[in-house]
Amino acid sequence: MIKRAQLVLGIESSCDETGVAIYGDNGLIADTLYSQVEMHAEYGGVVPELASRDHIRKLLPLIKQCLVKANIQANELSGVAYTAGPGLVGALFAGVSVARSLAYGWDIPSIGVHHMEGHLLAPMLETEPPSFPFIALLVSGGHTQLIRVKCVGHYELLGESLDDAAGEAFDKTAKLLQLGYPGGPALAKCAEQGDPTRFTFPRPMTNRPGLDFSFSGLKTFALTTSQQNTLDQQTRADIARAFEDAVADTLAIKCKRALLQTGLSTLVVAGGVSANKHLRRTLNTMCDGINAQVFYPRHEFCTDNGAMIAYAGYQRLLAGEHDPLRIQARPRWPLAELTSPSAL
Ligand code: KG4
Ligand code: ZN
Repeated sequence: MIKRAQLVLGIESSCDETGVAIYGDNGLIADTLYSQVEMHAEYGGVVPELASRDHIRKLLPLIKQCLVKANIQANELSGVAYTAGPGLVGALFAGVSVARSLAYGWDIPSIGVHHMEGHLLAPMLETEPPSFPFIALLVSGGHTQLIRVKCVGHYELLGESLDDAAGEAFDKTAKLLQLGYPGGPALAKCAEQGDPTRFTFPRPMTNRPGLDFSFSGLKTFALTTSQQNTLDQQTRADIARAFEDAVADTLAIKCKRALLQTGLSTLVVAGGVSANKHLRRTLNTMCDGINAQVFYPRHEFCTDNGAMIAYAGYQRLLAGEHDPLRIQARPRWPLAELTSPSAL
């Protein structure tokens, strides 16, 4: 029997980006993205209700735009993948409803994808993807996790943040330094002008065994330092630099520990914070030192996007997996609950 070619529409709507992409047997065909950043900037952070409403407005036009860009008719699609969680429940439901309705109308299967599995597999979209098994460092706005990845769907949690996620710490520290929203890129830009020798922040939880993280103390450290000094532009940059150095070093120390402990020599870094240039430099140096290889998604696929969801959904649909009849969005969803599609 000849297997029908797979052409999967991917939809991401878990937070403040509406992402749509089409992935086929020969790779990524097209992707479109609409960021709500400007809308939320006015409020200094994501307003969930506004996010849901905007996803509803943008989803169908973006899907049409993506089909045109790919030069594909809707009836050529073989499946629809969408982010089913974790994320903001209203935002998720916008994507879930559109994806499930389209799949029903087009009479093709749909599949709910775990947002962090999407991030984790994003480096697979590159021309030189990593090979399994590997250690994944997931660093986003909601998660900081070290995961041992055997294959698609086989994820063992080795460690995670006990409080703030790395991205959340970036955002909160940027806010207290009055750098605006979104905080991560703003803080990184400010840190470029910083003097790395003026302040030294701690590397939390690195002097004890284990692979968990704690970043909320760094934000407090930044607050205290900002209160003890005149917060002029140079001091902001110096604090930003000290903060960024501390996060990057802490992540690198734990990644090295995870690689040595498991005997693996491949590291995959994904999620919004993996766009951070200083983090990349620090991890590259660490990996060079222990003969490990490190892989990242391209810059635009570090933060939320439809391509990573189309890719993860493609893998699962190809293995014959698809949604049951019930419709579900899961605002909380542990990654380690996933199973490998080949085990079905
Ligand atoms: O993966 P993502 O787009 O959304 C979530 O799944 O959370 O990650 C967003 C997070 C935000 O906290 C943002 O500030 C952070 O990633 N981020 C960065 C950079 N770009 C995005 N943090 C540090 N440096 C960056 N260049
Ligand atoms: Zn994300």
